[in-house]
Amino acid sequence: MVKIAILASGRGSNFSAIMKEISAGRCAATPIVLITNNPLAPAIEIAKKYNLPVEIVKKEDFSSREEMSDRILFLLYRYDAELVVLAGYMLLIKGKIFTDYKNRIINIHPSFLPAFPGANAQKDAFEAGAKVSGLTIHFMDESLDGGPIIYQEKVDISDCKSADEAAAKILTREHLAYPKIVHSFSKGNYSIEGKRASFHPTKF
Ligand code: GAR
Repeated sequence: MVKIAILASGRGSNFSAIMKEISAGRCAATPIVLITNNPLAPAIEIAKKYNLPVEIVKKEDFSSREEMSDRILFLLYRYDAELVVLAGYMLLIKGKIFTDYKNRIINIHPSFLPAFPGANAQKDAFEAGAKVSGLTIHFMDESLDGGPIIYQEKVDISDCKSADEAAAKILTREHLAYPKIVHSFSKGNYSIEGKRASFHPTKF
């Protein structure tokens, strides 16, 4: 079992999907803490439902992104996290956390990266008239939605009448993919070759 810390800023539907799969025995991970920047995040209610500790790390309480990230790093050590799962965490983290947790921070993004990075990927894809968008799960580096790609999937959004519809269609796929990738960390290891990560079925 890999011990996971989840970072989420809002709704937490990916977090919820992971928790459901863990509860059903299909995702071999042990959730240890939810860290959020948003005291009003619905994700907090999900954590409470599963009796998971919640830590709030607000951007405003720190003088820099590095300082805020150091606080998150401190919590990762305190809870002994092995893998950091960003699930709709909408702030950039910076600094030492990337050395200490190198290749142990993963993120899900609702586009086929490198297309449409940023906070409004589904809207950007829809408004650009993209017929196909997708989702990407990747190791996180310090850039915006950057880092070696673990898994990608294309999603046909040509029949979507709005950006919200496109987002919902992509989200359904996110909920299926993310728990499977988290599960894979308990079954093996990833190595990085250039912009891609390859799975090696050994022990985590
Ligand atoms: C998800 O669509 C996730 O891919 C996206 O935010 C949404 C969070 O929803 N993340 C990003 O855009 C990261 N740049 P959720 O809180 O219901 O999981």
